[in-house]
Amino acid sequence: MKRTTYAGLVDEQYLDQTVVLKGWVQKRRDLGGLIFVDLRDREGLVQLVFSEEYSPEALAVAEQLRSEYVIEIQGHVVARVAKEINPDMRTGKVEVRVTGINLLNKAKTPPFDIRDGITASDDLRLQYRYLDLRRPEMQQGIMLRNRIVQSVHSYFDHNGFIDIETPDLTKSTPEGARDYLVPSRIYHGHFYALPQSPQLFKQLLMGSGFDRYYQIARCFRDEDLRGDRQPEFTQIDLETSFLTAEEIQDLTEGLIAKVMKDTLNVDVTLPFPRMDWDDSMARYGTDQPDVRFGMELKDLSAIMKDTDFKVFSGAVANGGQVKAIAVPGGADLYSRKDLDKYAKYIERFGAKGLAWLKVTDDSFSGPIAKFFKHDGDFAKITEATGAKSGDLLLFAADSKRVVAQTLGYLRVAIAKEQDMIDQNKWAFLWIVNWPLFDYDVDLKRWVPAHHPFTMPAEGDAHYLNDGEDPHKAYAQSYDIILNGLELGGGSIRIHTRDLQMKMLKALGFTPERAEKQFGFLLKALDYGFPPHGGLAIGLDRFARLLAKRDNIRDVIAFPKNSKATEPMTQAPSTVTDKQLDDLDLEIAKLDTDDEK
Ligand code: AMO
Ligand code: AMP
Repeated sequence: MKRTTYAGLVDEQYLDQTVVLKGWVQKRRDLGGLIFVDLRDREGLVQLVFSEEYSPEALAVAEQLRSEYVIEIQGHVVARVAKEINPDMRTGKVEVRVTGINLLNKAKTPPFDIRDGITASDDLRLQYRYLDLRRPEMQQGIMLRNRIVQSVHSYFDHNGFIDIETPDLTKSTPEGARDYLVPSRIYHGHFYALPQSPQLFKQLLMGSGFDRYYQIARCFRDEDLRGDRQPEFTQIDLETSFLTAEEIQDLTEGLIAKVMKDTLNVDVTLPFPRMDWDDSMARYGTDQPDVRFGMELKDLSAIMKDTDFKVFSGAVANGGQVKAIAVPGGADLYSRKDLDKYAKYIERFGAKGLAWLKVTDDSFSGPIAKFFKHDGDFAKITEATGAKSGDLLLFAADSKRVVAQTLGYLRVAIAKEQDMIDQNKWAFLWIVNWPLFDYDVDLKRWVPAHHPFTMPAEGDAHYLNDGEDPHKAYAQSYDIILNGLELGGGSIRIHTRDLQMKMLKALGFTPERAEKQFGFLLKALDYGFPPHGGLAIGLDRFARLLAKRDNIRDVIAFPKNSKATEPMTQAPSTVTDKQLDDLDLEIAKLDTDDEK
């Protein structure tokens, strides 16, 4: 039997035709002498009908069918009777009267149902990933990802970009995460690093004169995992020579617009808005703002600097800030207990509490309302925050960083909780004019806000000179944000040795260490290196947002779980003594789980 079409595509076009279909039994209903089977393949379901009248042999086989059995059938497409029509299904107006069937394989009962919206645990789904991937919503996610990839290749090809592969076994490329290391068998004690991105190679390709590079590149980062991070993930990576930051952004917008059109038939409006990093931090408390809703952060430091409420005036006196968000209608939505829960949660950002005021027509209520009794206070605070009667004001009084993190978090958490976000919006936005450096509170040192190859803003390179404060410098870098998530980022790069050395020095590199780690790049910069810049978009994140899924795992065929393991193959695993011997490695101590 040669398949004539996919089960999920059998619609009225096929009326009165004979079709051959292959796929899996979704379910079987036995009405005695009449059996209905839903047949599933990657395109969807179609209803099969078995009866003595159409084929007694086929009916006999149908009696043995169970869920997930694999069959091929031949049959005749007919219209369903009116009351059986299912308008929600492509195949809902027809059914297939089966005249021949072959049972190709049997199946055990799967550990979870092969359908959308199951409640099986993530680990069980990953352990039986091949079954999980049989589920329609998973197939749709993976197929949407493929549409994105096809659209990306076509866009780049039409715009003169050249797809060039870069190595996976390489030298460490710092993007801020920990490297995955691969021991060398030939040079004991030496290691390759898996690339955190193709960053340095794509820059070198600009030095080679390729002018426009792209690659759908696998990247590896050993970092703490969250819903939007995987240890290995994929970037839509590009680099160009001689273009400005704006020109690179325009090319990226063209790419995104094409992908949105090709995959979802959505027309996005270009150009995307640009927002300065400083503005984004001030208004949203984050560098990846969700601009689909308001509730912006308002600075009340000037109003609060002399208040009797010492938490507020003290924060300002210590060089900090007092900021607030106004939750529309929040006075009735949040009890003291709810707010205590939030106060506890925000401790992780360093917040020392969560002060709040409920707004009535002409006064505030709540435990700290007594400090703001004056008509003047009420008017100033409500004016500055835009709060109206019935709203709830939430305050953070602390360092700029803690205030931003706390209110940035609360703004999004409350918007989600109160369903304030229009899920049909595609809010793309560029965050531009980043600082060149960022202070890492955990490492207690300055790190690059993007990476060490980022060009300072025009006129800011002098901050890298001896005797100046490098941390004042801004950068020619840009991030593309979609619906409050960083989709991608890039920059114009440094293309001279002199400036690159200054940058590395500002990051604490001695000339010797700079040479040891980046000598190959520095040397290349000496041989006529063009001005260049680029960007990378996280394909997994892009696909997850377009597929409207909660976790990037849902658009990756074989992802790792949140503990960076793969429950199906059980990677990572121990290796044989012989393998270790070859590498001249010895395991000092096994985790207790692995102890034999
Ligand atoms: P960056 O580190 O910002 O830039 O990464 C670019 C994009 O890759 C995605 N991403 C991830 N996706 C899934 N899991 C992860 N662990 C993960 N880490 C990053 C994000 C992010 O925006 N070489 C530079 C780009 C450049 O300057 O051209 C780079 O890698 O969507
Ligand atoms: P206290 O005077 O310490 O009892 O605090 C009064 C209110 O202010 C409580 O609701 C605290 O949660 C809140 N609060 C304390 N410190 C801060 C802070 N740094 N920022 C915002 N609210 C705070």
